[in-house]
Amino acid sequence: MYTPFVLHMHITFRQLKIFESVARQLSFTRASEELHLTQPAVSMQIKQLEQAVGLPLFEQVGKKIFLTDAGREFSRYATAITSQLDELDQVIDEMKGLKRGRLTIAVASTANYFVPRLLATFCQRYGDAVSVSLDVTNREQLLKSLVENRNDLVIMGQPPKDMALVAERFLENPLVVIAPPGHPLAGEKRILPDRLREETFLVREEGSGTRSAMERYFSANDLRLETPMEMSSNEAIKQGVEAGLGLGLVSLHTLAMELALERLVVLDVVKFPIMRNWYIVYRDGKRLSIVAQSFREFVLREAAQLIQWPAL
Ligand code: PGA
Repeated sequence: MYTPFVLHMHITFRQLKIFESVARQLSFTRASEELHLTQPAVSMQIKQLEQAVGLPLFEQVGKKIFLTDAGREFSRYATAITSQLDELDQVIDEMKGLKRGRLTIAVASTANYFVPRLLATFCQRYGDAVSVSLDVTNREQLLKSLVENRNDLVIMGQPPKDMALVAERFLENPLVVIAPPGHPLAGEKRILPDRLREETFLVREEGSGTRSAMERYFSANDLRLETPMEMSSNEAIKQGVEAGLGLGLVSLHTLAMELALERLVVLDVVKFPIMRNWYIVYRDGKRLSIVAQSFREFVLREAAQLIQWPAL
C-alpha cells in the first residue's frame, strides 16, 4: 500500500515553526530569543526534526550555520506552511470578531425574490468582509443540502417533519391567484372557488412548496386541476399568465414589478391569500459559524420589517 511520504516524517507544527525561525536567521541563539525558548530546546527540536526527515538540514562551518540542500528545500515548504498557519490563525481571530467570514445559504426559488435584499443589508452592516454563496434551488435539493450539511442555513417554506432540524419562522408568504388585466374575472369581488373550475392553471413543478399549497387548496375545495400546464419557475408562470395561457398561483413576493406595471392583476378569490410562512432552517446540533449565527439573528429580528410586498 502506498503511504504518503509525510506520514513517515513525524514532524510537528512546533518543529516547523522553530526550523523556520532558525533557517531565516541562521542562528540558534536568535531563534531561541524570538520563540522564547532555551537554546538547548531549539537544538533538540532541530535534531529531532533532522532525524524525522532523515537528512541533515543545517551544517556548521566554524561558528556559522548554513542550510544544506535538503534544508533549503525544507525551508521553502516550511515558510509556506507556517505562513498559511499564521493566516489561519488570523482568519479565525477575525471570524471571532466577525470581521471576515463566509456565509453559504440555500433558498427555495420563491425566496430568491427577497433574500438578496436581506443579504445586501446584512453585508452593508458587517462590511465586505463577509463573502456570500447563495444557492437558489428546489425543495429536493434543499432537503439534500440539509442531509449533507452542505450549507450554513436553508430558507424554505415547509421544513420536513421527519428530520431533526431547528426551523424558525420569520416571515409570511401570501399566495395569490394571478390573471392578465383583461381577464373576465379581473375586478370581480369575492370570486367563489367554484368559478375556478373552468379555468386552465399554470402550475409549478412537483416538489415546489407553492405547487403543494395549490394542490391542497384545490382538493379542499373539491376542484380538479384540469390539464394544468407545468412550468418550473415563477418567472415562467408570470410570463405565461401575462401571455394569456391561463391563471397562475404565485407568492405575492414575486409580483412587485408586474403589479406596479399593471401587467398582471391579483384576483379576489375567497379564502385567498393562502398564508404560508418562511423558515430559516439548519440541522439540530449543527454548530453555526459566527457569521451564520449573526445572519440568523438578523433575519429573525428584522426580515419582517425589511421585506414588504405589494398591497392588495
Ligand atoms: P417554492 O417556494 O414554491 O419556490 O418551492 C417555497 C415554498 O413555498 O415552500
